[in-house]
Amino acid sequence: MKLLTLDDFELKDKTVFLRVDMNCPINPDTMEISGTTRIEEATESINAIKDAKIVVASHQGRVGNKDYTGMEKHAKVLEQLLNRKIKYVEDVIGVSAQNEIKNLKNGDVLLLDNLRLCAEENYEFSSAEAANTIMVRRLAKLFDLCVMDSFPSAHRSHPSIVGFSYVLPSCAGKIVEREVKKLDEIMTVAKAPHVVVLGGSKVADRLEAINLLIKKGRADHVLLTGLIGNVFMRAQARIKSPLGIKREEEIVSKAHSLIGEYPDVFSTPVDVAIDKDGSRVEVDVRDLNKEDKIFDLGPNTVEHYNKLISGAGTVFMSGPPGYFEKEQFSFGTKSILEGVTNSMATTIVSGGHLTSALKKYGLADKINHISTAGGALVLYLTGEKLPMIQSLEEAAKKHRAK
Ligand code: 3PG
Repeated sequence: MKLLTLDDFELKDKTVFLRVDMNCPINPDTMEISGTTRIEEATESINAIKDAKIVVASHQGRVGNKDYTGMEKHAKVLEQLLNRKIKYVEDVIGVSAQNEIKNLKNGDVLLLDNLRLCAEENYEFSSAEAANTIMVRRLAKLFDLCVMDSFPSAHRSHPSIVGFSYVLPSCAGKIVEREVKKLDEIMTVAKAPHVVVLGGSKVADRLEAINLLIKKGRADHVLLTGLIGNVFMRAQARIKSPLGIKREEEIVSKAHSLIGEYPDVFSTPVDVAIDKDGSRVEVDVRDLNKEDKIFDLGPNTVEHYNKLISGAGTVFMSGPPGYFEKEQFSFGTKSILEGVTNSMATTIVSGGHLTSALKKYGLADKINHISTAGGALVLYLTGEKLPMIQSLEEAAKKHRAK
């Protein structure tokens, strides 16, 4: 393996910066964390770093979005999962955070507040630029080692992802180590036809990734669900009214160009389920009204998608096909996941929501690889070098050259 791991370093007495990804689904009504899988993942590296002072850092949500919150609740969940005291500071780079870090003792774990409270963390930089941000200049001098374990954000080049690793001895944490090893194994055995089942809400990110997946021969069929499915149905003029998403016209026009470029690749739903006074109602896509809100796939779409999945050599599924948290809209997600687990293909399922759904339906042990990463994993599968992995490879090169 090109990356260094925790086994390559003496950790005793060290102050360690541990970048994890505890970006969790948040219930918009209660602002409570509604799925803790990524916090569970964060415990692995914390448990593996012994006799050291650990400073844990993560982002949560995007500025302006409903899931953008502080990390206090994450600290509580972490404390319960680890069954040990977690210190928490409502600060990222200020005097309070710096003093807390300086006062840590061996065995202490301190969680910083949401990294995106710091403006710089919302921009992309080269590694050298990231190392020159105030965040990295202020904090790096307080650490002996940087451990990168936020695989779901490996495709971002934010200061916490590529800056600390540029100036500090750095290695992969447990999750990054496992993901890279497992995905590289899968990439060598992955066979055609490649079927990609794509849902979820980060539509703009996904469009470029779809383009790359198709170009690199990693997507022979793209079966669209969720919000991205709606975008393509709008591009096909099968949904007539606006979806109300940011930069909608630009996104729909990109989807339109992709359909034009690859006419045989995309499948979109033929029927869906909508909400009528809290109940599920099946509707043919041609009969959708302006005010209808789509929450799930319909049975004909599921049957068609599962037929394509059953003939696949490799299936990659990212983002839930429906609002499965509500029982009446769980049919699409459950049935497609069953289709994926019943197929003979090599299967990869990605994203926090689908990871929770697999657990809920008792299907998790029937999938070859499950990852809580969404966009990062899609890009990894295209063969693109992710900024975090690149910066860890460079750190490893520097370390070995010593
Ligand atoms: C994710 O959930 O995909 C990661 O946490 C990255 O989040 P972002 O897309 O807001 O950068």
